[in-house]
Amino acid sequence: MSSIKVIGGSKLKGETIIQGSKNAALPIIAATVLNQGVTILRNCPRILDVFHMIDVLKELGCTANWEGNTLIVDTTYISSTKVSENSVQKMRSSILFLGALLGRTQEVSIAYPGGCSIGKRPIDYHLESIKSMNVSQEFCGENNSIIHCYTDKIKGNDIFLRFPSVGATQNVILTAVLGEGITRIFNAAREPEVLDLCNFLSLAGARIRGKGTAFIEIEGVKALHDVEYKLSSDRIVTGTYMAAVAVAGGDVVLRNIPVNHIESVSNVLKRIGCKIRVTDDVMKISCNKRPLPYDILKTQPYPGFPTDMQSQLMTVLSLADGASTIIEEIFESRFQNAKELNKMGANITVENENKAVIRGVNSLQGGLVRAYDLRAGAALVIAGLAALGTTVIRDVTCVERGYEDICRDLRSLGASINYCSDNILACASYPMA
Ligand code: UD1
Repeated sequence: MSSIKVIGGSKLKGETIIQGSKNAALPIIAATVLNQGVTILRNCPRILDVFHMIDVLKELGCTANWEGNTLIVDTTYISSTKVSENSVQKMRSSILFLGALLGRTQEVSIAYPGGCSIGKRPIDYHLESIKSMNVSQEFCGENNSIIHCYTDKIKGNDIFLRFPSVGATQNVILTAVLGEGITRIFNAAREPEVLDLCNFLSLAGARIRGKGTAFIEIEGVKALHDVEYKLSSDRIVTGTYMAAVAVAGGDVVLRNIPVNHIESVSNVLKRIGCKIRVTDDVMKISCNKRPLPYDILKTQPYPGFPTDMQSQLMTVLSLADGASTIIEEIFESRFQNAKELNKMGANITVENENKAVIRGVNSLQGGLVRAYDLRAGAALVIAGLAALGTTVIRDVTCVERGYEDICRDLRSLGASINYCSDNILACASYPMA
């Protein structure tokens, strides 16, 4: 575990390049096993979650090598159809190997992923949908924690999702691509990362209609082929750095942004006073006044405001000139950061598991806080940029799950920020690079 130390108070100025998308990379890495050959993924972020997915590929007997931000995956041979409990515990997204391995080998054993710090996160939609595609399921091992799925032939079916779950939509697509017949997904997730997965699979020879919509139709094909694919840029990393400017003030340029995927976040930040201009894949964002409050900010499935930006906006609104309300509609326990921000002088009341009232304060004070999850950690980092004095954010390994190097990026925007050891006393007096 390491910590991040931020010395707040200076406005941001400069430019940074946005990394490839985590949530696009993870399902596409799982999807590579559907092809018996070599896949080249460009603009792939070098983050912990991607490293974990690569570890799973290796467990299965595949190889993966980096050339800069290009990942070359060889899935010609698969020697195992088991995804270990250890892998699933490290990262829930390993559950995407369920559909991908079934498609490739008609069999998979995978540990049941538990909940995590942001919610219960069941996988009932994944399992029900896949079962209806002529797949048998058995629960075995200690506490029935291993799911064993097998089939003689995946058969397309009509799948109605009760909620447009991103992971369930992706798992059904992965299962259906090499199946027999047509699978139709009703109420599919429309997140850009589902579109990225469909674009990747189509380029590799899959037949998919309705990409990016709530009704997706997959017609099974016999095989996929080798392909080279460029992943989209990360919309949440883009949004995090936009929020950093909103909170610290300043004038910055973000390059390589996913222009079409950031509208809901841009709209909110414009309403609270940021100036945003986009030309091609370059954004100029400036904020030079205290943020305005936002009456009611609700997280929703895409194209609504993303839950993965909720914590960062909570930081921004904690400094607004008035009161705002956030309603979290996707996950049950995603307000843990309120406690940490309150330690820094914010005035946030969590009224129930999905409603928080944020009364803006004039300033935050530096302090010692803890990152509970990936986005909450990033939100504390940007709180540190605005706070008076020094902030140390502990347990930031979770931030490395999704950000290649948040310190490097924010330093290129002029921030005083560095990783340091988890020895807090040492960290607090650590010289800044
Ligand atoms: C993905 C994203 C995550 C993002 C989330 C919501 C990746 C790797 N992760 O997570 O960053 O925050 O979408 O946009 O892309 N649900 C069920 N049963 C299921 C599946 C989901 O009840 O079988 C519920 C979940 O508990 C949650 C909601 O549906 O309340 C949305 O979850 P889902 O869209 O599946 O999120 P993930 O795919 O896990």
